[in-house]
Amino acid sequence: MSKAQGRLSGLLGRSVRDLFSRSRGVLALDIGSSCVKLLETDGPPGNIRLLTAGIAPLPPTAVQNNLIQDFDVVAETIRDLVKQTGARSREVVTAVPGPAVMIKKIHLPSGSDEANFDQQVMVEAGNAIPEHLDNVTLDYQVLGYTERDELEVLLVAVKKDIVNSYTSVIRDAGLVPVIVDVDYFALENMFELNYDLEESHVVGLVNVGARYCSINILRSGRSSFTGDIPVGGAEFTDVLMRNLGVSPEEAEVLKAGGTAGDLGRDQIEAALTPAVQFLVEEIHRALSFYWRSDAEEPLSAVYLSGGTARTAGLARMLSERLETPVEVADPLARVTLGRVVDAEFVRRNATSLAVTIGLAARRVGDKT
Ligand SMILES: Nc1ncnc2c1ncn2[C@@H]1O[C@H](COP(=O)(O)OP(=O)(O)OP(=O)(O)O)[C@@H](O)[C@H]1O
Ligand SMILES: [Mg+2]
Repeated sequence: MSKAQGRLSGLLGRSVRDLFSRSRGVLALDIGSSCVKLLETDGPPGNIRLLTAGIAPLPPTAVQNNLIQDFDVVAETIRDLVKQTGARSREVVTAVPGPAVMIKKIHLPSGSDEANFDQQVMVEAGNAIPEHLDNVTLDYQVLGYTERDELEVLLVAVKKDIVNSYTSVIRDAGLVPVIVDVDYFALENMFELNYDLEESHVVGLVNVGARYCSINILRSGRSSFTGDIPVGGAEFTDVLMRNLGVSPEEAEVLKAGGTAGDLGRDQIEAALTPAVQFLVEEIHRALSFYWRSDAEEPLSAVYLSGGTARTAGLARMLSERLETPVEVADPLARVTLGRVVDAEFVRRNATSLAVTIGLAARRVGDKT
């Protein structure tokens, strides 16, 4: 199987090759639980140019339980972002949240008949996925041959009502959804675009959003584990509101290093530190559960992204706990900035844009 065949084709089933080989503009849209991130890019996937960028907040009720709940609010937010950024493309690459996705590896005998390959995968998927296949959107990626000469295939399944809630809201906003990806894989593409991975290295990618962390462990540049932890920056907001009596808006200012009223930074740190420590413990637990360093190579480094990655002290505390270098990823390291994009805005918000950049960079390395 060629690499191109082995790539996820997009949950909507349409090949993305056509879309990108022409290098025309595309909208990458990350609908998070706290905000919507929109980028317009052009250029080939491995060499993307950022044309426009925007981020708009969402009320906490708009996206819940991995579903769009308030279609009007989300569609209007997307429409406003398109207007505000002046984006002209209409075709959208988006992602469903990792916790909504079922990911399984299956093995097929080598020499599997290419003509019936889809059918064989469907049969195995019926056994592996704990949902009736009529209710899920299914995609797969051939990973390669195992030591026992079996074909290893990654299955990715999402309940149709979840995919439909994301595609419907994009249509409601007057746009055309063409690819639905998963944030774990977008993160991997963001990393592949911006970093050179040494063959033997094991790297942890951890995107810390508002309500959950996505984790993708890459070994020799290939995803070895994906998973999530249901903790994010919204917990920090709650802690500050509860302990210091501040409003949600004030809590956002405090999280970003500011102050409110006569609160001193030492009081703010004292309130925030136990919550940050809790997050560090949870990430440590997940990484050590899924990556047993005694049996395999140790993690070489962890790259943090997502809005909450900017929390003061988080990277340092995680590095101390993991005894591994931890750095905040730069999703723009190898992205060309177009003439009109607000460079200061995108650099300031770069960590929040990690998934969105990964969506824009889909199929890095596929030249066909
Ligand atoms: N400078 C900052 N310091 C600390 N936290 C920040 C900063 N800027 C943004 N955040 C927090 O980052 C979170 C938003 O990050 P992000 O955009 O990655 O989340 P999301 O995609 O909306 O959430 P999710 O993916 O969990 O649904 C919010 O909780 C916000 O308060
Ligand atoms: Mg997110």
